[in-house]
Amino acid sequence: MTRKEETVLAVSNLTKHYSCGHKAVDNVSFSIRKGECLGLTGESGSGKSTLARCLLLLENIDQGEIWLHQHPLSSINKKDARLYRRKLQAVFQNPAASLNPKLKMIDSVMEPLDVSKKDAPLFLRGILANRRLAAEHLFAMVGLPPHLLDRYPHELSGGQRQRVLIARAISIEPSLIIFDEPTASLDVTSQAKILDLLKDLQDEMGLSYLFISHDLAAVHFMSHHIMIMKDGQIADQFAKEELFSEKRHPYAKKLLQVFES
Ligand SMILES: Nc1ncnc2c1ncn2[C@@H]1O[C@H](COP(=O)(O)OP(=O)(O)OP(=O)(O)O)[C@@H](O)[C@H]1O
Ligand SMILES: [Mg+2]
Repeated sequence: MTRKEETVLAVSNLTKHYSCGHKAVDNVSFSIRKGECLGLTGESGSGKSTLARCLLLLENIDQGEIWLHQHPLSSINKKDARLYRRKLQAVFQNPAASLNPKLKMIDSVMEPLDVSKKDAPLFLRGILANRRLAAEHLFAMVGLPPHLLDRYPHELSGGQRQRVLIARAISIEPSLIIFDEPTASLDVTSQAKILDLLKDLQDEMGLSYLFISHDLAAVHFMSHHIMIMKDGQIADQFAKEELFSEKRHPYAKKLLQVFES
């Protein structure tokens, strides 16, 4: 990844109040380039998930603008909003809640492509006519054996379920994938394996990520740039190599302690 890569997502002065008047997100600006992982961390309640939900159009924003590939969302119509939602995929903390318990894995993983094959990435185009083969290919990309395609969510481990959701997210080669605490419900070994997988997929496919986590070691491992939120605002924002600078926010200094201990 170089700094010359195109900007995939840009956010300026984004503000979100909840009805109590509290600003959960307060005047936040940042951008993410193609192939980049932006790590977002900060204490509980600082506004990270609210920001993610605003980007995913799950919350209305009060002020500010979001651009996807230079297109502002303020002027977006309903049809384009649907397309925008497909371009932004999300993987959340609890994989069981994100999978329909009544669907076999093959139907969950193929759902975005069943809706529209138009966005199929090059690596699937030749085999898309054979739905089973395409699903097996996606499963192989996330390290899952093909026989799991016939199982229901409760017949998989948490780590396997999260891999299914990652396979579904990459199936239409989205512009950006938002991960909100994607490994928080997994044991330490599964966490490390999922992070390795995410990094490999990013390298192979040139994906862009917003990676939200309290786990400072994970944020450091995954990210090219790191952003720290506090009370809805961006308290610090820096390239990973600048972590060692004296002027860093105290929360960033905690990141350093993770490696010193
Ligand atoms: N639906 C809601 N209505 C009112 N206030 C909300 C709502 N959702 C979140 N908040 C408040 O907005 C603030 C930010 O919450 P948010 O969930 O974005 O924090 P977070 O940084 O993701 O925290 P965590 O690290 O615990 O996941 C908190 O003060 C929270 O109580
Ligand atoms: Mg959160």
